[in-house]
Amino acid sequence: MTTGHPELVATIASEIERSGPIPFVRFMELALYHPQFGYYSRIPEAGTEQIGWAGDFYTSSDVHPTLGQALARQAEQIDRLLGQPDPFTVVEMGPGKGLLAKHFLSACRPDSSSFCRRLRYILIDRSPAMRERQRQNLAQWLNRPGLVSWVDDLDEVAPDSVTGLFLSNELIDAFPVHRIQVTDGRIEELWVDRQEGRFVECLKPLSTAALVHYVDSLDADWPDGYRTEINLEAVNWMKQVARCLTRGVVLTIDYGHTAQDLYRSDRKNGTFLCYFKQSAHEDPFTHVGEQDMTAHVDFSSLAAAGDTHGLQVTGFTNQLSFLMGLGVEQLIASLEPESPEFRAAIHLLKPNGMGGTFKVLAQHKGIERPQLDGLKYKPFFIEALATRASV
Ligand SMILES: C[S@@+](CC[C@H](N)C(=O)[O-])C[C@H]1O[C@@H](n2cnc3c(N)ncnc32)[C@H](O)[C@@H]1O
Repeated sequence: MTTGHPELVATIASEIERSGPIPFVRFMELALYHPQFGYYSRIPEAGTEQIGWAGDFYTSSDVHPTLGQALARQAEQIDRLLGQPDPFTVVEMGPGKGLLAKHFLSACRPDSSSFCRRLRYILIDRSPAMRERQRQNLAQWLNRPGLVSWVDDLDEVAPDSVTGLFLSNELIDAFPVHRIQVTDGRIEELWVDRQEGRFVECLKPLSTAALVHYVDSLDADWPDGYRTEINLEAVNWMKQVARCLTRGVVLTIDYGHTAQDLYRSDRKNGTFLCYFKQSAHEDPFTHVGEQDMTAHVDFSSLAAAGDTHGLQVTGFTNQLSFLMGLGVEQLIASLEPESPEFRAAIHLLKPNGMGGTFKVLAQHKGIERPQLDGLKYKPFFIEALATRASV
């Protein structure tokens, strides 16, 4: 049964009435980002929120500040490798509530460190409601001229204007995805129609030439009934990031896999999931506009797209190894064993949980391949990413 935010459901229904079925990617775009009624665009009712323990899902920054602190240490090393440029710019995309930025900035000492005096932290989030949350969480730094600022869209960042670090945590999994299915040996796309007052799936041909090209480039041999997702926005995003960065590093943190793993034939139902009040399910037609929707990231495609546009892969690791390389052991050693803070920090490191599921892709441009501290420990061979043709 279709349930959800009434105005959003009516808006999507009227688009389908006007122009016929819409590709699933369009449905997801409206459900998450419709400017007035989308899940991320709306200011949540008092006492509720989208992200956090009281929300639909939580991220590493809700668990413990250690990821933001480690990223500040990683940024300082990148700053040294770049010869301490002025300014050193961090562009964080999709900051959500702004907690990662808060933890990063808390780890800096603006009065005593040269790095922090040269730091410019730019946040880009397409949701005005999230930008407001970021302003609240970063209030203590807003009186420092130039330290923290916002840009509405990556398009507004001039080509070759950034020297420093591009950062994102759980951005790419929140991009709307195309969903495809194999039927009688043919690859079709999931579209959304409306019947008897309900949203329903239907299968139709692939909606764009770019999608056809991408699917062909995977060169996959999937069984009948196989479903998966294609994130074309991720590839375009990578291209834009490469355009803006002149010298520095891109760190992309998210849950995902290499293409080889993500698109293997026994992963029959893909990775698309909805999150509502901390529970995961697969029905996008309930709680429309009131729940998150995500799909795992194809890191090989990000690496290949970056490579085509001037970003070389520095390394690929998981959150556990990344944090170990940046000294999380010292933090753990300083905590009271079994205290709530100890348990929270450990939560980020669990190999079968956030420590292993979350991956970190590092890419660089305009410098020799840097030996990043976060890449000291290597759970995978970097060649694992190199199995993807250029996209
Ligand atoms: C899952 S939340 C990320 C949470 C946050 N990074 C954290 O660590 O807690 C995804 C965020 O990405 C933003 N977003 C999605 N697509 C975007 C885009 N194309 N440009 C900028 N922000 C985007 C959403 O508005 C939302 O705030």
